[in-house]
Amino acid sequence: MRISVIGCGYLGAVHAACMAQLGHDVVGVDVDEKKVALLTAATAPFFEPGLPELLAETAATGRLAFSTDMAAARGATVHFICVGTPQKRGENAADLRFVDAALDALLPHLQPGDVVVGKSTVPVGTAEDLAARIAEVEPAATLVWNPEFLREGFAVQDTLHPDRFVYGLPEGPDGQRARAVLDEVYAIPLAEGIPQVVTDLATAQLVKVAANSFLATKISFINAMAELCEATGADVTELADAIGHDARIGRRFLNAGLGFGGGCLPKDIRAFMARAGELGADQALSFLREVDSINLRRRVRMVDLAREVCGGSIVGRRIAVLGAAFKPNSDDVRDSPALSVAAQMRLQGAHVVVTDPEAMENAERAWPDLRFAESAEAAAAGAELVVLATEWTQYRELEPAHLGTLVAERRILDGRNALDPAAWRAAGWTYRALGRQ
Ligand code: UDX
Repeated sequence: MRISVIGCGYLGAVHAACMAQLGHDVVGVDVDEKKVALLTAATAPFFEPGLPELLAETAATGRLAFSTDMAAARGATVHFICVGTPQKRGENAADLRFVDAALDALLPHLQPGDVVVGKSTVPVGTAEDLAARIAEVEPAATLVWNPEFLREGFAVQDTLHPDRFVYGLPEGPDGQRARAVLDEVYAIPLAEGIPQVVTDLATAQLVKVAANSFLATKISFINAMAELCEATGADVTELADAIGHDARIGRRFLNAGLGFGGGCLPKDIRAFMARAGELGADQALSFLREVDSINLRRRVRMVDLAREVCGGSIVGRRIAVLGAAFKPNSDDVRDSPALSVAAQMRLQGAHVVVTDPEAMENAERAWPDLRFAESAEAAAAGAELVVLATEWTQYRELEPAHLGTLVAERRILDGRNALDPAAWRAAGWTYRALGRQ
């Protein structure tokens, strides 16, 4: 099939390459010339495991092209909208300007029978508005909603082998025709038996924000338990293991620590609350305010803990922060708990040096005032405190005895409960973590 993918960020670039991998003829369209130039040269514009190989492989087939000109989307049967929906400045609501601009640019190129597929995470009701705008210009084109659930770091795997496909369809024959088109797009993964949920537009839009709200709630739940553990001397990692054995609860997404960040969970729960307010259903989501607060409190607690282990003040202290990305296997620093803690400690007078295997460039752009070092060893040299903020494998595997020879003081804060406390203590370190003694 001929496919256009509009927006080539973390979602769209991966989606475009994966659609080409499935055998389709794909053009990715983005307004960012630099991104398009890189993708055209089969170079990933951001860090995502497996994407460079996939780009190289699919570029060689001639089935994957990129352009800054929306006219390139003309002639494609399926148009995926994959642009970002960030948080509005100073408000909880989502900023839909990129979605609106993408549709405005696409409208003149739509042809009868085209299917426009929304993938971006949007406030419920957006799809209906977009469908109305399409109907005015090209009544024989159909809008469907097909939310994307990919995780950064596993984006290729999640796109090619998702847990489920959700199709939000309009009523009537147009919806059924669009369903057949999507089935053809996803024929290969569907043949693997991946579950398919076919529903209406409103439900499909809600599924995505409901899923992210649930995940955020699960993380904040365990972080609330961490606060209780801190107050009682209990151990949140053991508590999570114990409750996680209950299949109804499950151990995944119960890792206590610095909490969630990134370009999705924080802004999605806020946009969901804002939309619920507009719909007169704000009470239904008031618990998400608490989920957000618990999450942000962990960052504050981490800075307090730093002060505590440094004897009451971090002013003038050399602190190494391991990790800048919002999670491992990503170079994304959007709303990164690691950088938020690093910046707070710097504002409070510490000499902070940050390192990250992949996210240094993005981190320096976001926080030019912070100091950066190329490696964990370089960051730790002379440090009076080491803070593990993002649990990259290389940081999990740091050798306590070796690192101990580099620092000025053997003090470590494990912001992700990713280290073995016994091993660090045995090597003479003061080890502290969130939610455990
Ligand atoms: C998330 C959803 O998982 C994905 O389905 C959706 O499409 C986009 O948003 P992503 O933002 O890539 O994906 O990251 P995810 O792996 O969900 O992690 C989110 C944050 O939660 C990270 O900061 C991570 O460190 C944190 N986290 C995750 C925890 O603090 N504890 C956990 O147990 C799990």
